[in-house]
Amino acid sequence: MRVVTARDYDQMSRKASYIVASRVILNPKCVLGLATGDTPKGLYRELAFLFRAGDVDFSGVTTFNLDEYVGLTPDHPNSYQSYMREHFFRFVNVSPGRRHIPDGAAPDLAAECRRYEAAIERAGGIDLQILGLGRDGHIGFNEPDVKFETGTHVVTLAESTLEANARFFARADDVPRSAISMGIRTIMSARRILLLASGAEKAEAIRGAVMGAVTPDLPASVLQLHPNATVIVDEAAARTL
Ligand code: F6R
Repeated sequence: MRVVTARDYDQMSRKASYIVASRVILNPKCVLGLATGDTPKGLYRELAFLFRAGDVDFSGVTTFNLDEYVGLTPDHPNSYQSYMREHFFRFVNVSPGRRHIPDGAAPDLAAECRRYEAAIERAGGIDLQILGLGRDGHIGFNEPDVKFETGTHVVTLAESTLEANARFFARADDVPRSAISMGIRTIMSARRILLLASGAEKAEAIRGAVMGAVTPDLPASVLQLHPNATVIVDEAAARTL
C-alpha cells in the first residue's frame, strides 16, 4: 500500500486527478470504478478542468459506480445517478452507454446485483477503482463485520452511516436504509485502487486501514492485501500515521 500525503483537500484532489488522468491517457479505453460522497467532488472538478483544457478524453472510458441507494429512482435528487450527473458526467464526455450505476429501483435486487457483476466482468474488470472512506472504515457500503468474499450485494446501512449521510437529505428519516454495493471481492478485483481521505474525522479510520490489523471490523484494512493500492491523505487525515 502506497501512502501519498497532501497538504489539504484541494491538493489531494489534484494529485488524485493526475493519477486518474494518467490512466486514461495511457489507456483511453480503461474501466474506471467511481465513488460518490463529499471526498471525490474535488477530484471530479479537477478532471473536468483537465478535460476542458483538452488534456484528457473520456470518450472511450467505461465507468462503474460503487453503489446506489435502494428505492431511489435515477432521477431522484439524492440518487447517486443524480450525484454523478451533477458532479462529473455533465462536465466530461463519458458516453452515456458506458456509464454504469446499480439500479436501486430494480424490482429484483438480487438479479440486479448479479447483472452488475456480470457487466463488470464483460467490460474486462476495473482498471482503477476510486474509493472514499467511511468514518467507521467502510468502503463502498461495506460496513464493519463485512464478509471479504462478497460480490455486489444488498447491504443494510450502519446507524453511523445513516447519520453521516443524513446531511444530504431534507430529513434524517428520508435516508434509505439499504443500498446495492460492490462487495469487497469486487473492489479487490480491480487492478489498481486509489483511496482518498480528507479531514480529521477520517484520521482514525485511515490509521486502521493503513497500519492496523486486516479485519472485517474495519473493511478498508483489506486494502493492505491489494497488490496495487494507493492512498492519498491530507494532513488532517494523516495526523495519526
Ligand atoms: C460512496 C461510498 C462511500 C463513501 C464514504 C465516504 O460511493 O461508497 O463509501 O466513499 O461514505 O463518504 P464522504 O466522502 O462523503 O465522507
